[in-house]
Amino acid sequence: MTDVTLDAFLAACRQLAEDAPARIDRAATPAEFADVRTQLVGRKQGRLADLMAQLATLPPDARREAGRAINEVKADIEQRLDAREAAVAAAARGAHAIDPSMPARRRWQGSLHPVTLVIDEIADIFRELGFTIALGPEAETEFYNFTALNFPADHPAMELHDTLYLANDTLLRTHTSPVQVRTLQQYAPPVRVLAPGNVYRRDFFDATHAPAFMQLEGLAIDEGISFVDLKATLSEFARRFYGGTRRVRFGPSYFPFVEPGAQMDVEVDLGDGKGTRWVEILGCGMVHPNVLDAAGIDSERYTGWAFGMGPARIAMSRHGIPDIRVLYDSDVRFLEQFAR
Ligand code: PHE
Repeated sequence: MTDVTLDAFLAACRQLAEDAPARIDRAATPAEFADVRTQLVGRKQGRLADLMAQLATLPPDARREAGRAINEVKADIEQRLDAREAAVAAAARGAHAIDPSMPARRRWQGSLHPVTLVIDEIADIFRELGFTIALGPEAETEFYNFTALNFPADHPAMELHDTLYLANDTLLRTHTSPVQVRTLQQYAPPVRVLAPGNVYRRDFFDATHAPAFMQLEGLAIDEGISFVDLKATLSEFARRFYGGTRRVRFGPSYFPFVEPGAQMDVEVDLGDGKGTRWVEILGCGMVHPNVLDAAGIDSERYTGWAFGMGPARIAMSRHGIPDIRVLYDSDVRFLEQFAR
């Protein structure tokens, strides 16, 4: 290496300082920045490393000024490299930038199903009227589903084509009324229970039927209970559930396990422009003495009443829903109307 003079060294420093910006400004990727950094200010090779080597060959009294010059150039180049690399990286991020002014996407939190809400609300009303919750199995025996409920042995409801039979003489219960018998076998009167649960029927899925659906059974057994108690309690329930202005009515109906049997209708507007109409929301009646006897209850001493309702139909009657099937699909646009 040939010796250099201080002037030549300072000139080389200025030349490097002049060349550097154009080189730096051409770099666009992290790899290009790494290359330029090595070429300009690398410790072992590159133009700054060359100048450092020359520095050692300068006369001792020139090294101080030469050292200051080279450090200045080095600092300038590194600063420009850092600033330019940061700016390029920020611009790249800008392509996928977060826009903090954009409204947040709304979170669907999930909520209770409208049928569940109806069951909970009805259970609250009946709890205040002195009822507790009772549950029974969905796979039932013929005895609880039919026989103990005073169905005649050859009743058509027991036919294979009306009921879904499982193995070992069990069937999918067609109503929650078997819970009446199971409760009375287990607890002595007075009894006031509400029994919610799934029931199954060989029904087609159409606007008003589902092959699996919820029922809510009610049962009140005590001494001296009459049809007046039935009508008063169910009217009070309707008043609390629908509000005092919605009209309800009772009419005669038939179920083998009640005598007399009745149904309660509520006046609804389904919002289809056809005005109001009466919709049956529950079956009810005085518990048949044969049912009390089958459950081991003294039917001379005790009387009572029972009802069974479909909470899906009740949700429909309350919200003016014309088709039961919307309650069984998972269309969030429908379901989220009931979120609370
Ligand atoms: N179990 C009857 C049904 O499923 C409803 C009902 C219950 C009627 C209790 C009277 C008393 O249709």
